[in-house]
Amino acid sequence: MDVLKLFQQYVIPNYGRYPIALTHGEGSYVWDAEGNRYLDLFPGWGCGLLGHCPGPVVEAVREQLGRLIHVPNSWYTEVQGQWAKALSERSFGGQAFFCNSGTEANEAAIKLVRLHSTPKHRYKIITFEGSFHGRTLGSLTATAQPKYHEGLGPLMAGFVYAPFGDLDAVARLIDDETAAIMIEPIQGEGGVRIPPDGFLAGLRKLADERDLLLVFDEVQTGFGRTGYWFGYQAAGVTPDIMTLSKALCGGIAGAAMLTTPQIALSLRPGMHAATFGGNPIAARAGIAAIEMIEKQNLLAAALRLGEIFQQRLSELQQQCDLIREIRIRGAMIGMELAIDGTSTVKACLERKLLINCTHGTVIRLLPAMTLTEEQAHQGCDILAEVLKAQATGSSR
Ligand SMILES: Cc1ncc(COP(=O)(O)O)c(C=O)c1O
Repeated sequence: MDVLKLFQQYVIPNYGRYPIALTHGEGSYVWDAEGNRYLDLFPGWGCGLLGHCPGPVVEAVREQLGRLIHVPNSWYTEVQGQWAKALSERSFGGQAFFCNSGTEANEAAIKLVRLHSTPKHRYKIITFEGSFHGRTLGSLTATAQPKYHEGLGPLMAGFVYAPFGDLDAVARLIDDETAAIMIEPIQGEGGVRIPPDGFLAGLRKLADERDLLLVFDEVQTGFGRTGYWFGYQAAGVTPDIMTLSKALCGGIAGAAMLTTPQIALSLRPGMHAATFGGNPIAARAGIAAIEMIEKQNLLAAALRLGEIFQQRLSELQQQCDLIREIRIRGAMIGMELAIDGTSTVKACLERKLLINCTHGTVIRLLPAMTLTEEQAHQGCDILAEVLKAQATGSSR
């Protein structure tokens, strides 16, 4: 295929890609260059929470493209201010710093922690085994998974890793130089791992008692994914700093770090910046995404999808001994298998269903909130067919 040849010659092969070139998408479907249609239960690695090419976002971006594409942050734009207001009003009433990707938002959070804590002679950040915070060197060091660190040392100083879910271990790791605790409210790439009840509240308590900042990486859990605007709201625990990206702009690149006005004072002019951060296109897309979620009542839709998948996958678990555990919060779905899930992904792809496998054995679905109930059932039917065939050994 010509597209593959272009990639072989001109694109650095640092990704494992399926040998398929996608051409267009609509809602929960994408099409390839040969005209095949796929049901996408993992649109855009979590960025497609509103589905492919969501109408209101497309319209808003089209309009904005003809008006103003980009001006740097040396100027004010109303659209960036309105976007920050909309996010603040739906979260903990804070202020926003805008950037372009999840890892960048986490870099901003790490720098803010340092700037805020240096006067107290503190710099260490506790993060969690199995976490994923991004690929730039600060976020990568925060990511407590040795496989991502290989060949890249020396990494950034000042990160301490705790076992996920072990409050006593976290308490033991805190010392006079500890500045913050940073965590995903639900580990995404780490296998849709939901912390034990009370764990996040326990971290909040520890942070308050020891005067630490609590940072939630909501790049994957945020913006409606769990059926709440932000994962912290589902857990009933408010962080001091929160990072967002992926679905934030309805599929357009964009990211934000939010914090309280008081902590924000530590990010003084000139201390941090992003040339494209909060640009008018991302801002318009971000506002349109919020409006779409509210007008179409999509937070409730995400919760409903969670219920459907819970019911269907639990039924499947009764019939298929390959399924060890099902972990679901709204439209964030993980299914732990007793086998390597790579073959499951491949078999689904052959049946025109797109899913993901993370951590070897966890099937991860991050469907659009706009996925219809019928599409959810179609996806579950295909998954059931594939897993039952794998269980009987006919396609392992
Ligand atoms: C929780 C979390 N944080 C950060 C990132 C990094 O985001 P990006 O790839 O946009 O840099 C990801 C990406 O998967 C993520 O899931």
